[in-house]
Parts: sequence; structure tokens; C-alpha cells
Amino acid sequence: MATWSAPGKVFLFGEHAVVYGKPAIAMAIKPRVFVTVRRSKNPHSSRSPYIDSCFEETGVKGSVYIHSQLPSSSGLGSSAAVTVATLSAINDEFDLGYSVEKIADMAFGIEKKVQKGKASPTDTSVVTFGGIVFITDGSRRRLPPEQFNIVVGNSLIPHNTAKMVESVADFKKRYPTICEPLMDSIGALTICALHQMGDLPKLGRLMNVNHSLLESLGVGHPAITRMVLASRAAGAFGAKITGAGGGGCMIALCAKTLKGHVEGAIESCEGRAMSTTLDTQGVRKEKDV
Ligand code: MEV
Repeated sequence: MATWSAPGKVFLFGEHAVVYGKPAIAMAIKPRVFVTVRRSKNPHSSRSPYIDSCFEETGVKGSVYIHSQLPSSSGLGSSAAVTVATLSAINDEFDLGYSVEKIADMAFGIEKKVQKGKASPTDTSVVTFGGIVFITDGSRRRLPPEQFNIVVGNSLIPHNTAKMVESVADFKKRYPTICEPLMDSIGALTICALHQMGDLPKLGRLMNVNHSLLESLGVGHPAITRMVLASRAAGAFGAKITGAGGGGCMIALCAKTLKGHVEGAIESCEGRAMSTTLDTQGVRKEKDV
């Protein structure tokens, strides 16, 4: 039996555009997914395409037990965390000898398959290695740690990443001359953010612009917009959708002293608020349960 955990993630900048080669910045957050794998000759079906793919890719048979502190289908990287932690637990339980880089690459391959060929390595890189990660042209660079105070607002409206990625692909195909400049702008603001990581008011402003551009791409949702506007009114530096959108979660960047206020604003919009910070650790072995 082997138990491994992986953190969740938020996109600070660049989701969706990153699928088309634009840069993105994402950060691992404290809530984790814990996965225990045990050898088994006749395992039950997991009913998860991510977990089934982990066993298919490694060619072994086992049963899986999952304990998640992350809401699923909410944009906080739970599918990437499940995939990376499952591959790591399989690697450990069956002594396969994979490196952590190999696990990140395999997890990306699985996400890509489930998202029908359209995916970036952002989620799988961040949950594997932890920290703040800058993704560009498929390569990753870890950025210096920052103690960002992030309040996550969960709309409790589940979304499907593959469908949201598909809807952006349709929009791009139908209106390339509208969509491509929007993606270029997301790429440009991500580069600006990269050079201003210590300046919270400027980062907040760029998050607000990123949010509007994501809405223009068609991945907004009224419940998310309400929480974004309420967070800004409560004093957050900035707020935006995080992840695939169309429901799921938003994030607000705020001063430590205003966290409670922003949480209250989100809850008053009937969202579920959760304050979080950076997790510098990625996937890790846990004591067996
Ligand atoms: C999903 O968390 C982020 C997207 O950009 C998809 C991806 O990067 O694979 C929407």
C-alpha cells in the first residue's frame, strides 16, 4: 500500500490562452488530494477517466482510495492532483522507478487525452512541483515564492474543463480575428505580471483585465461575476475566474487584513469562500492510512 498527495492549484494569469502557446502563471495551493494505491488482482472500476488512464499507462492493476480536500470540477486542479498522486502512488507501490519529471509528463499526457488533445502542461506541472510556475511554449520555470493572500470563491456550479476548452476552440475557429487578439492580450498581460510579482495593486489590476478577457472568450458565469465584483468592492486588489470557467471558482488577491472582509463578500453572493496561500511542495509521500 502506498499513499501520496498532491496540492491544488490556481491560475493567477493565462488560462485558456496557454492552450494556444501563450504564457501563464499558476500557483500551488494548500488543500491537497490524498491517494492510496494497493495491489489488487480484481480491482473495481474507478469511474474516473483519469485514474483508469493511470493504470492503463502503467500496465498494473490496483485499487485506489481517494481523500480530497479539494472540490472536484471546480477549477482548482483536482483532476491533475488526482492523476499525479495516483501515478506517484502506483510508481511507489509497484516499484516502477519513474522520475518525478516522468510522472509530470505522463500526467500531462493523460490530461491531454481526457481533454481531447487540447491541454497545457500547467495544472500537471504545478501540482507535481509545487510553488509558483511560469509556463511558456510548453516549458516551465519555477518563480520565487510570494506570500500571496488568495481568497477562493467557489460558485458550487460544476464545470467540465474539456467542454470549456472545446467551447473556446469553437469560438476561435468561428471568429479567429476576434479571438486571437484576445489571446495575445492575455499573453501580454501575463508577461507584464511576471515583471511585477511583488506589486500587489498592479497584479490585481492585471487580474481584473484577465477576467474581462476570459469573459470575452465566453467562459464567464453570472455567479462568478457576482463574486468577482463583490470581492473588488470589499477591497481586493483584483479578482478573476480561475481555471476553465463556466462555473467553478474565482480568486481574489487581497491584503492579509482584508481576507475576512472578502470572504464575507463572497459568502453574501452565496459562494463558498476559502482563504489560501502558496504551497511550495508538490507531490509527496504520506504515511499510509
Ligand atoms: C484548466 O485548469 C486550464 C485550461 O487552460 C486548460 C489547460 O491549460 O489545459 C482551461
